[in-house]
This record gives sequence, C-alpha cells and structure tokens, in this order.
Amino acid sequence: MKFKKLLALSLSAVMAATLLCGCGSSNSTDTAEDATAAEATVSTVNDGVLTMATNAYFPPYEYYEGSDIVGIDAEIAQAIADKLGLELKIEDMEFDSIITAVQTGKADMGLAGMTVTEERLQTINFSDTYATGIQSVIVKEDSDIQTLDDLQGKKIGVQLSTTGDIYATDDYGADNVEQYNKGADAILALTQGKIDAVIIDNQPALSFVDSNEGLRILDTEYVQEEYAACISKDNEALLDAVNGALAELKADGTIQSILDKYIVAE
Ligand code: ARG
Repeated sequence: MKFKKLLALSLSAVMAATLLCGCGSSNSTDTAEDATAAEATVSTVNDGVLTMATNAYFPPYEYYEGSDIVGIDAEIAQAIADKLGLELKIEDMEFDSIITAVQTGKADMGLAGMTVTEERLQTINFSDTYATGIQSVIVKEDSDIQTLDDLQGKKIGVQLSTTGDIYATDDYGADNVEQYNKGADAILALTQGKIDAVIIDNQPALSFVDSNEGLRILDTEYVQEEYAACISKDNEALLDAVNGALAELKADGTIQSILDKYIVAE
C-alpha cells in the first residue's frame, strides 16, 4: 500500500511578524473584549460578516440540527468570528463548490473538515491546521473485505472531490470508484448493496456506522490528514487574522474543548 505523506504546515515567520505588526498599530477605539487588531484590517465579502462555505453533511464537523448548522467547524468559525469582531454567516453547498466559492469571492473561508493537500494549495491558501483526520474504510458487517488489499476490484463509494475520492481513484482506479455528492448517499448505496465499501474521514465514518445498522469500519488507517480553513490567495490579511485567532483559541484551550465536545473517545 502506498504511503501517503502527511502535509505538515507551519505558521510562517513572515505571517507571525505581519500579525504582530498589526497588533502594534491596533486602533485604540476598539474596546470589544475579544476583538483583536485583525478587526480593523480585514476586509470580507460582506462588511462586518465572516461568510463560511461548508458542506453540512459531515458530522461531527458540520451537520444540521433542525435548520441550524452545528458541529466542530461551526463552533470554531463562531469563535474566530468573535475574535475578529465579525458576525458569522454559514453557507451550505456541495463540497466540490467550496474552493471555487472562496476563490470567486462568494465566501471568505471554507471550513469543512477540509484536508490540506499540495494540489489544493496550488489554488487556495490554508490556515494553520486545527484538527487531524484519518481516511477510514466502511464495509458491511458481513463483508469479506478485511484489509486495504481486499478492496482491489471492489466498488468503492466516496464523496465527490474529497481526498477519499482522490486516493481511492489513485489506488484502485476510477472504474472502481463511485462518486456521490454527499457522504450519506455513499453510505446509503453501501447499505443497499450497490457498492462494497465507502472511504471517508474517520469521524463521519464513526457517526455513519453509529446511525446505520450492519456496518463496520476496517481496522486500518488508510491516510492521515490535517484539516484547515481555506482562504483566497487574494486575502492575505484574512489569512493572517484567522491564523492569529486560531493561535489564541488553541492557546486558551477553546479549540480542544470544542473538539472534546463532539469527538467521543473510542
Ligand atoms: N477531508 C476530506 C477532504 O478534504 C473530506 C471533507 C468533506 N467535508 C465535508 N464537509 N463534506 O477532502
């Protein structure tokens, strides 16, 4: 099995320096307790609003509770927006549309359990990472598939344009990969016996297996990944501001407590 390298991102010294300078020249009329200097310097698609693009069918990172989108990413985005003195607005769309929405100024950032990859970095910036993920393989409980090698020649379901899609296509061939718009649609096809396996991130995998009878997760970690917010290459100020907010939210334990709230120890 091919080894997939984890993409390690580090906050560049340049960004840190820019941020510090920003703080130094912070305008003193700003009294909001949580607001940082970033507030005075970032421009967003809609003034005063941080618009987040996501695909809200990815529990526990983003999912619907009634008509509200909740989950890890929604809470982290809210915390970032609070730090920047902005109101948060969440736009739900196909996962495949998120990067384009951010590139074309329909949203300020994508937060969608999105993995940092070399390929995506060609077109979009990523913030510092805030969580890790693992690509998991789900099969039916009574399936004879036990290992990654057993997937050869089987029908594998994935969510369109996700890393699961990219890796499965690379490793098992496009002919063996069925793409679905939502992870849940792939799971449905699996339960109906239309496909043999689903490759998807581990936390949604646990959630789907929990809410659907007769499924199990292979005892193997297909690929390890890091999640980050994607932000347009044209908005470096927002990237710096989001990284600054993330650093503070990591330091004060907010990110960890949000993760702990939604991710139950196995
Ligand atoms: N981590 C994977 C990727 O970046 C899947 C993310 C899917 N996220 C979602 N909200 N549907 O490709």
